Amino acid sequence: MTEFKPLVFSGVQPTGNLHLGNYLGAIRKFVALQENNDCIYCVVDLHALTAQLVHEDMATQIRSITAAFLAAGIDPKKHIVFNQSQVPQHSELAWIFNCVARIGWMNRMTQFKDKAGKDREQASLGLYAYPSLMAADILVYRATHVPVGEDQKQHLELARDIAMKFNMDFAEKIRPTGLGIDIKVGDEPVHAYFPMVEPLIDGPAPRVMSLKDGTKKMSKSDPSDLSRINLMDDQDAISKKIRKAKTDPDALPSETDGLKGRPEADNLVGIFAALADKSKAEVLSEFGGQQFSVFKPALIDLAVEVLAPINAEMRRLMEDPGHIDAVLRDGGERARARAEKTMNEVRDIIGFVR
Ligand code: TRP
Repeated sequence: MTEFKPLVFSGVQPTGNLHLGNYLGAIRKFVALQENNDCIYCVVDLHALTAQLVHEDMATQIRSITAAFLAAGIDPKKHIVFNQSQVPQHSELAWIFNCVARIGWMNRMTQFKDKAGKDREQASLGLYAYPSLMAADILVYRATHVPVGEDQKQHLELARDIAMKFNMDFAEKIRPTGLGIDIKVGDEPVHAYFPMVEPLIDGPAPRVMSLKDGTKKMSKSDPSDLSRINLMDDQDAISKKIRKAKTDPDALPSETDGLKGRPEADNLVGIFAALADKSKAEVLSEFGGQQFSVFKPALIDLAVEVLAPINAEMRRLMEDPGHIDAVLRDGGERARARAEKTMNEVRDIIGFVR
């Protein structure tokens, strides 16, 4: 019994502004993972076409996610940072996965149902096939670990189902190539070409909620810009948004139990805790009994301290799009080499002539 070589892969769509929720929930995790892992981080521009076909500022959006990756501390030399459309092997493997995945599986995807809305006839075929492309993103590198938010869990389960069916259906063709690995799925021994990907779900990262409504997720699609802190916000904007954030009239409690039924207080304490790398309990042991008039200025100082350097670096990078493009091109080249190796093996397993 051997194991697949650990490899981290994740993707972020180039749509809308990145906000604090994206940073705390995803990008900061990407940064931490690169210490002990081989990592591939991808700006999934092909996925961005599924919701909306024409984007006025596609290139700027791609560069801005890339700038956020770099500004947050992802090292594009030690790891790989690139945009999906530079590696056509993703789309090619996605086609094969379209032939592996069953329509019944796709019909169960809750995100498709949410995004397609009532008029499913008018949803694009791409939106329907989105999870199959996502599986290909990961498996074209035979990646094993995928940091994502809770909302992507079902898509990763689908990636496992696709990998499993491919492994099973092609079992007799994988074995003679010597490309497979004996792994255990539960207690079952399986001779696998594709690994069973493991989600790395939120963990200690908080669900960052809207600054205007503590029951709604912070979102790039919220019409009120005051509801979120964008990574491109400068010091003044950060401070204004926190000053105007919704609160309740009471002082902060001394224990986390006291946050129940107080979604706005809970959210601000959670944001403080995440930015300070502390638990909510620790934050409350410091601020319990204090009014928001004391807590908010402390939160502003902390948010500015953590986010201002990232913001400044993002702005600096965005002024040199040529440099960002060169980083993506270099990452794309290295990603392509790895993806092409997998595709050649997949072609051999299937029996395509090459
Ligand atoms: N679906 C993911 C999201 O919206 C983005 C994504 C595309 C992704 N391909 C991926 C995430 C591969 C992880 C791995 O958040």
